[in-house]
Amino acid sequence: MKGVLLHGGFGTRLRPLTHTGPKQLVRVAGKPVSQWALEDLRDAGIKEVSIILGELAPDRVVEYYGNGDWLNMRLTYIYQGYPYGLAHAVYVAKDFVGDEPFVVYLGDNIILEGIRDFVKRFEESDSDAMILLAKVPSPERFGVAKFDEKGRLIGLVEKPKVPPSPYALVGVYFFRPPYIFRSIEELKPSWRGELEITNAIQNLINWGLKVEYDIITGWWKDTGTPEDILEANRMLLDAKIQANIYGSVEEGAIIEGRVFIGKGAVVKAESVIRGPVYIGRDSVIGPKAFIGPYTSIGNGCRLTNLEIENSVLSDEVVLENITTRICDSIIGSYTTIGKHEGMPSGLRLIVGERTRIYL
Ligand code: G1P
Repeated sequence: MKGVLLHGGFGTRLRPLTHTGPKQLVRVAGKPVSQWALEDLRDAGIKEVSIILGELAPDRVVEYYGNGDWLNMRLTYIYQGYPYGLAHAVYVAKDFVGDEPFVVYLGDNIILEGIRDFVKRFEESDSDAMILLAKVPSPERFGVAKFDEKGRLIGLVEKPKVPPSPYALVGVYFFRPPYIFRSIEELKPSWRGELEITNAIQNLINWGLKVEYDIITGWWKDTGTPEDILEANRMLLDAKIQANIYGSVEEGAIIEGRVFIGKGAVVKAESVIRGPVYIGRDSVIGPKAFIGPYTSIGNGCRLTNLEIENSVLSDEVVLENITTRICDSIIGSYTTIGKHEGMPSGLRLIVGERTRIYL
């Protein structure tokens, strides 16, 4: 079985973090969102994956994942070009999948339980497609499943005003060629101007092909907003991060709970780290830093004399001498926040487009 990882989109709700790269590269619990997806595929035995790139800084994706050797995967890339929709993104992978069954994984989705059992179920079946559903409180934000009175799947509606059920389509789809590609060829753009994968699967149902479903009962998230990123970070820190200290902890520093400290990182005196916390490679924490629960810190960061909790920092972030506790924050790479020494006194801000600062 092969994998197709969708990595396009403009991630407008995550700006300014997505001015310089796709949303799937935003970090949660030490890894880009899409790396959690790739590792799910790999852990389900799918090592040959094509990543479908969008128009927003696709080179950064290639630069980060490379040929996949370091993940023990074989990764290739396809440029989608203009974003005509998810079904179009799947269609550009037609030659890559050939006649093998394949999984499509939306690179902004995070599924805590992974997909191993679902992959096994699909491999053992002879279905033309299998979808995953999750019961959600606001199904109108997703593709939604429609069942008949016997619980058989009879339809799928994309973002319906009146949802026919509380079951949303999760961003992982299983297909056995060739019908899915024929179906995509027949699609017309939806009301939002896209070729919808939801409608492509609806065609398969209409044609009387075998479309199965399974239900995800664990935590699942489609990460599109800052709040989603913070929630995903909390869930992954809880579920996946083990206490491990590869760096060094100086005397006088206190480590409490589940804390991961990467290679070359240093925790200096008079600092308290209260897990779950992830600290990346070569970061320097302290002196005088309180790193509270649910904080993930990237590589090469420097945090001195401050308090922070429930936040996500990318690489090379410098935070120093901050008197108010930082909370619920997401900070992009190469950002510096600190007291400005010298004249004039007051806040000195050099911030990018769509930055949000709450004081
Ligand atoms: C897409 C699909 C939708 C699905 C969702 C899952 O929505 O169109 O059916 O429920 O992914 O993440 P989009 O992210 O394009 O709004």
